[in-house]
Amino acid sequence: MNSQERIKQLLDYREKARKGGGEKRIEDQHSKGKLTARERITMLLDEGSFEEYDMFVTHRTEDFGLADKKYLSDGVITGHGTIDGRVVYVFAQDFTVFGGSLSETFAQKICKIMDQAMKTGAPLIGINDSGGARIQEGVRSLAGYAEIFERNILASGVIPQISAIFGPCAGGAVYSPALTDYIIMSRKSSYMFVTGPKVAKAVTGEDITIDDLGGAGVHTSKSGVAHFGVDEEKEGLDLIRKLLGFMPQNNLEEPPQLDCDDPIDRLEDELNDIIPESPNQPYDVKDVIARVVDYHDFLEVHEAYAKNIVVGYARFDGMPVGIVANQPAYLAGVLDIEASRKAARFIRFCDAFNIPIVTFVDVPGFLPGSTQEYGGIIIHGAKLMYAYGEASVPKVTVTLRKSYGGAHCVMSSKQLRGDINYAWPTAEIAVMGPQGAIEVLEGKAISEIADPAERKQYVSKKEQEYRNKFANPYEAARYGYLDDVIEPRNTRFRVIRALRTLATKKDPGPMKKHGNIPL
Ligand code: HXC
Repeated sequence: MNSQERIKQLLDYREKARKGGGEKRIEDQHSKGKLTARERITMLLDEGSFEEYDMFVTHRTEDFGLADKKYLSDGVITGHGTIDGRVVYVFAQDFTVFGGSLSETFAQKICKIMDQAMKTGAPLIGINDSGGARIQEGVRSLAGYAEIFERNILASGVIPQISAIFGPCAGGAVYSPALTDYIIMSRKSSYMFVTGPKVAKAVTGEDITIDDLGGAGVHTSKSGVAHFGVDEEKEGLDLIRKLLGFMPQNNLEEPPQLDCDDPIDRLEDELNDIIPESPNQPYDVKDVIARVVDYHDFLEVHEAYAKNIVVGYARFDGMPVGIVANQPAYLAGVLDIEASRKAARFIRFCDAFNIPIVTFVDVPGFLPGSTQEYGGIIIHGAKLMYAYGEASVPKVTVTLRKSYGGAHCVMSSKQLRGDINYAWPTAEIAVMGPQGAIEVLEGKAISEIADPAERKQYVSKKEQEYRNKFANPYEAARYGYLDDVIEPRNTRFRVIRALRTLATKKDPGPMKKHGNIPL
């Protein structure tokens, strides 16, 4: 072959590789409303930035008639590119080749870019669309999965890892996404489960559809396995770009600071009246968040799961922050098992990647009852406390209204190394709410009053006395547990100034191999 022929051969190989499992299977993929692996990567990355690795890899299996059934790239497209000019590593499983199933060589391709991502300190993005272990490869496929899992674990807390699920993701294959930081699922075509409906039926007799068992709706609202659900794949890919905009490339870098035209001293008069007169009346804490962050722009994470706590990303004067806020508009903002787990995981991500945490508190306490106790609220609540107490990034807390009992301690209190703790004049910081407190303190006296009207009057008088004493921020401020009581409309400015002051914070904990978070 002369050099011209050799070049033609290269181009032909490339052309062939780009066809994946062939035109027919690409058509099938499109007919299901799904993009191909290469289309997804092109849509995700900055134009023209993708550099593909291992296009010429094929599997090595001879059994089951596979010797003459080889496809260039072997069912997964890997490489690196840029998002907003910053390097990322990416793999996209190609359903058109053996249903995107994972072979030994397929796993090696993924491991290669995972190693590169770790060496260069760049985020890893995985797009999943696969029938799981390539059945013909047996244990080699299982070993391949385990190689990937181990790398996911080692990369955790070093580089951000994001998974998109745009098709099947079943069996042990679910555990690679589960080990990553964020999971995005498409509502139309994805599902995740450890065992599918057929096995569920055989083992437990349960009759359930694929979607009800492991669709995006289930995982974004019931299990909390997925953080985001999207209608279109493009929406999911855009979301990955946006999410990465809040993150540093790795744990040794600071998150990207943007220029900001939104005035830092923007006063929000409505905030002075946002807390209702009655302490039991709800309001939407997202209205508070939107008013104080840059350009009112808040990217909520886990929106449909444990709505009694709100977590997500925003910027203050261009600085990325993680926001955690109790949500009085849902279950009165109570802390329960799901809310504790949700917020704890979010806080640990922020801490691992140097993203400051701003907390807005309005919490009546932990949810009482046997369901919570049997489910281990003690351990799950401890997770949230552990995450806050361990986090050494700058932590700014603003107490808006209630902050009662153990939940007060948990929600980034001064004693859990909260750096700057503010409260609005409407804050109530106490061991418990007036009703519960008076029941405990005055129970005997109340039971001895026979006349109902007189009893009611006595209770209300005692509750008022308690409220006067504790239902304000000044008792806590007197002890220095709060650094200041601030005017609500000036919250944006005070938070920004606090974050600026804390930018040079250094607060390393004691040396240890790792802690033992109550899992
Ligand atoms: C080899 C596979 C495959 C697999 C699909 N294909 N899954 N080949 N190994 N695991 C092939 C099919 O033979 C077919 O090839 C092509 O991919 C497309 O598959 P279809 O069945 O035609 O597609 P569809 O109807 O959309 O169904 C998709 C599917 C189904 C639901 C994913 O293919 C399926 O149930 N596959 C098996 C899933 C599974 O049980 N995997 C193992 C899980 S256990 P042709 O040539 O006809 O196009 C596991 C353990 C991991 O993964 C452990 C990690 C520790």
